[in-house]
Amino acid sequence: MELIRIPRIMQDTCRKHLQKGRTIGLVPTMGALHEGHLSLIRRSRSENDVTAVSIFVNPAQFGPSEDLSRYPRDIEGDTKKIGELEADVLFLPDDRAMYPAGFCTFLDVEKISEKLCGAFRPGHFRGVATVVSKLFNITLPTRAYFGQKDFQQTVVIRRLAKDLNFGTEVVVCPTIREHDGLAMSSRNAYLTAEQRKAATALFRCLTAASQEMLSGTRTAETVREMMQDILAAEPLIAPVEYAGVYDPQTLDPAAEIKGEVLLAVAVRLGNARLIDNMLVNT
Ligand code: PAF
Repeated sequence: MELIRIPRIMQDTCRKHLQKGRTIGLVPTMGALHEGHLSLIRRSRSENDVTAVSIFVNPAQFGPSEDLSRYPRDIEGDTKKIGELEADVLFLPDDRAMYPAGFCTFLDVEKISEKLCGAFRPGHFRGVATVVSKLFNITLPTRAYFGQKDFQQTVVIRRLAKDLNFGTEVVVCPTIREHDGLAMSSRNAYLTAEQRKAATALFRCLTAASQEMLSGTRTAETVREMMQDILAAEPLIAPVEYAGVYDPQTLDPAAEIKGEVLLAVAVRLGNARLIDNMLVNT
């Protein structure tokens, strides 16, 4: 596996692969890799000639009071995992390489960035859109792989890839869960044993809401209340930032339950902010 730290060298390498007629799959990550990330790498390996994995903890997507400095980092462990999966290139830039002195170009994907998580993390999706655009320009991917756990992120990235004619196919892969349903996330590392138990309420609330809709409930408010009640029964969860039924395209709250809907939830639990979602065909 090739390790590249310099954007220009990464871009030259990727361009040469494309010139030889090879497809490139990009798996953008912030490291602290878990099974969710590894499933994206495996998928990219099965669909592309070349798989590039990037690890960059992007300061532009963290708010001033967020967890940038304590975000889990394990470059050695990550490199080993990526090597074992036989990815071809690891792109590991530092902050200066991605945001050199004088950097002042940012990208805003309007409207959808302001909803759900965007309402609680101002500027977050501006940072995501900016770094993903840079990674697309540097690695020139045929396909790029993202987990459904960050559903709003996938909507934002699909929009920007289309609006800016990147020509990259955005592939959204299923959320990978622990044995008790908790969605895998690098931020689960912040949870104490007690908080970890309470965290199962997210998957329980999504499953119960999905069953409620599949058994005929058509009023979004009823489903939303049910989700809120399940979360409220866990005193360690506070506050619930949002929990409810949404339109998967616009991310607006769904008035009625019809066709495909998105169940989505975001909560604070101790030092962690946890999100999860489920798409349900009603
Ligand atoms: O999902 C993530 O890990 C990050 O938001 C991403 C897409 C790598 C951009 O920094």
